[in-house]
Amino acid sequence: MLWFHVERKDTKSLTQQVYEQIRMYILDGDLKVNEKLPSTRELATSVGVSRNIVLEVYDQLVAEGYLVVRPKSGTYVAPGSSFKVKSQQDTASYQQDQPGMIEQNMIDFRAAHPAMDHFPRKVWGRLAKEICYDAPDSIFGYHVAGGHPELKRVLAAYLLRTRGVKCDPNQIVITSGATQALSIITELLVDAANPYVAVEDPVTYEMRNIFSYAGASIRPIPVDHEGIQPEFLSNDEPPSFIFVIPSHQFPLGGTLTIQRRIKLIEYARQMNCYIVEDDYDSEFTYEGSPVPSLQGLDPGKVLYVGTFSKILSPALRIGYVVLPTNLIEPFQTLKWYTDRHNSSLEQLILARFIEEGNLDKHIRKMRKVYQQRRKALVDGLLATFPECTILGQAAGMHLVVELKNIIFDSHCLQRIEDQGVRVYPVEDFSLVKGKHMHQIVIGYGSLTVDEIKDGISRLKKALYV
Ligand SMILES: Cc1ncc(COP(=O)(O)O)c(C=O)c1O
Repeated sequence: MLWFHVERKDTKSLTQQVYEQIRMYILDGDLKVNEKLPSTRELATSVGVSRNIVLEVYDQLVAEGYLVVRPKSGTYVAPGSSFKVKSQQDTASYQQDQPGMIEQNMIDFRAAHPAMDHFPRKVWGRLAKEICYDAPDSIFGYHVAGGHPELKRVLAAYLLRTRGVKCDPNQIVITSGATQALSIITELLVDAANPYVAVEDPVTYEMRNIFSYAGASIRPIPVDHEGIQPEFLSNDEPPSFIFVIPSHQFPLGGTLTIQRRIKLIEYARQMNCYIVEDDYDSEFTYEGSPVPSLQGLDPGKVLYVGTFSKILSPALRIGYVVLPTNLIEPFQTLKWYTDRHNSSLEQLILARFIEEGNLDKHIRKMRKVYQQRRKALVDGLLATFPECTILGQAAGMHLVVELKNIIFDSHCLQRIEDQGVRVYPVEDFSLVKGKHMHQIVIGYGSLTVDEIKDGISRLKKALYV
């Protein structure tokens, strides 16, 4: 006799419990194909539920093909219904990427993470409500791949005013962060005739992996305190594109000089390749004003990639690319095949956020917050390690510190972690190894001044035991 237990206090209904039990018996083969099931009355009595519940469950299982009714005979397990269902534990273990997780008592000097405690929740919430109530019904439908025209219009004006980017709004495509823009660019430009991307060395592994994953091979071009060194680009074989972060190179923090900008553009014109400019954090410049974009020097050769991940929040997943006109259509096609388009609601909220002047206000405020955090870090480092050198422009949310007497190898990094602090060796970002053994990247965007001070004293304990 088929018997199982049902739990009356369970959040699942009795019908659901009976249904799931019988379904599992069939799938697992405990009830064999062509085996006859007890009558509804018998099963109801043995399980202790009403007959109506069993009738409902049998009907459902017949409708789904698990059971068949043979007239004047009874209800049977249908052929082809036994199947071993894999449990979660059976599937290959998968390490979840959880960048937002805060490890208990660990001071993590990771770079490029903004101050999450300062997101303009109130204004964003107000605008979200307004847009939800006011926007036309069409906002809830499908839209074009390139992005909402309202955001593109506002963004084109913002980019011209703040970054010297010259473009018509139609040249902008809204993407899911800079990440998606770079991935589609690689897919579009890398082919058998132009199989490699020239990248700054060192470079973030995220970006490097995006290019490799999209099928490109990578050639490192060395970087010094003034950014990429164009004389190391190949004169025989042009890359599909050159990836640069001219405003504030990651991680070394150099700003590309005008001489090198001109050389890069001349190279791209001569070799008939493109330059991809990643301008992810130039809004936060603490000394002088940000250098205008490379794109402004040759909009036909430079693809300008930007993001709201640093100035607002990476959780928005809103980035964009400004394209030379001949690439607009093929890029939009690939964007459509990837995810159709970004959320139109979020795009409209952002457009209104910028148009009302909230973005400028937020940037002004955050500049002060980051400047304060940076000052605490620089002062603390110089006081604790007087022999250290701080590299790069006073910009962004990270800096590189060099300690000539220390090699940041795995043993040293373990000692640092043991003190509950995490830093990032520049060597990890390097393609050609061995040139940055004494340097670490320290990000300060998401840490408070107190956490920064605590982190430095922990670092001191780890390095000078
Ligand atoms: C060099 C660089 N560019 C851009 C980004 C932003 O990526 P996304 O806009 O996809 O968040 C990052 C993120 O860390 C980065 O390191």
